[in-house]
Amino acid sequence: MRNLLPATEENVRRAAEILRRGGLVAFPTETVYGLGANALDPRAVARIYEVKGRPSFDPLIVHVASREDVHRLVESLPPEAEALMSEFWPGPLTLVLPKSDAVPPITTAGLPTVAVRMPSHPVALRLISLAGVPVAAPSANPFGYVSPTSARQVAETLGDRVDVILDAGRTSIGVESTIVALRGDDAFLLRPGGLPAEEVERVLGRPLKLPSESDVMAPGMLKRHYAPRTRVIIVNSWEEYYRLRAMYGRVLLLLPRPLHGVEGDVRFLSERGDMGEVAANLFGALYEADREGYEVIAVMPVPEVGLGRAIMNRLRKASAPR
Ligand code: TXA
Ligand code: MG
Repeated sequence: MRNLLPATEENVRRAAEILRRGGLVAFPTETVYGLGANALDPRAVARIYEVKGRPSFDPLIVHVASREDVHRLVESLPPEAEALMSEFWPGPLTLVLPKSDAVPPITTAGLPTVAVRMPSHPVALRLISLAGVPVAAPSANPFGYVSPTSARQVAETLGDRVDVILDAGRTSIGVESTIVALRGDDAFLLRPGGLPAEEVERVLGRPLKLPSESDVMAPGMLKRHYAPRTRVIIVNSWEEYYRLRAMYGRVLLLLPRPLHGVEGDVRFLSERGDMGEVAANLFGALYEADREGYEVIAVMPVPEVGLGRAIMNRLRKASAPR
């Protein structure tokens, strides 16, 4: 792959120049790899939708390199947004706020709001600040497929349709950012993610609300998503697992912690049952299982607290019917 480059200072400079000229750069963040373009350039943003095969109703997250960069993107910054930014930025928290006229409609899929995030990965921060423009970036995977936690995954699925892929190894968090929308007096959790919702609630001093199913606030939150080609089934008991093994040829079982004596092909997502490790390894395990030609990926659920909430959200979407 000629476009797959190690994220050295020289290559990050090259990539920043490409962004400035309207090109596409895949880059590491602490959550997953992103597919970036100049968020203020409608033609560059259009290429993101094209390369990902992403429907035009699904808005993008705009990435910045400093808290100050947010001001030109939003109409106003409520005090609660400032409190969350000072507590959690840079990091895996995306805020949805009323947008300014600087942000073209294609970036927000026509919505009056914009999603903004300051990633903590040093390569992402360096790239965005050298480019000197805010960077719109969805996860760097074909639409609906497993999100990439390594540059190789990006190269294998998007290939030469991206101008440059910056390689900085595996991402540390492994699930996407938590998305919170602030609207009037309400704060909504639009997507559980790498920052536990409990942390956000601690700073806000009240619980986050969940948007209703029909709410247009959370466009792009489709039932099926993050899914490998291989069928994913959440199994709630050993009985269910052994039934699957009897029904299908090749079954891979993913477990959150080591457990010995289980029959069949088993992979442990963490050596210690640590939810941070499970999240970091989840997408990679789904991706690899797809390549290894399993017929079914069986997964044992984890408790839905902290990062467990994001993990179960991704697993439910990956296992939803086509
Ligand atoms: O961790 C992440 O957030 C990664 C990395 C690359 O930063 N990015 C990411 O982007 O997950 P993406 O495109 O896969 O997910 C963005 C989602 C959209 O599908 C949509 O649901 C929500 O963010 N979103 C974006 N703008 C929005 C808006 N104005 N209002 C409501 N939801 C919005
Ligand atoms: Mg995505």
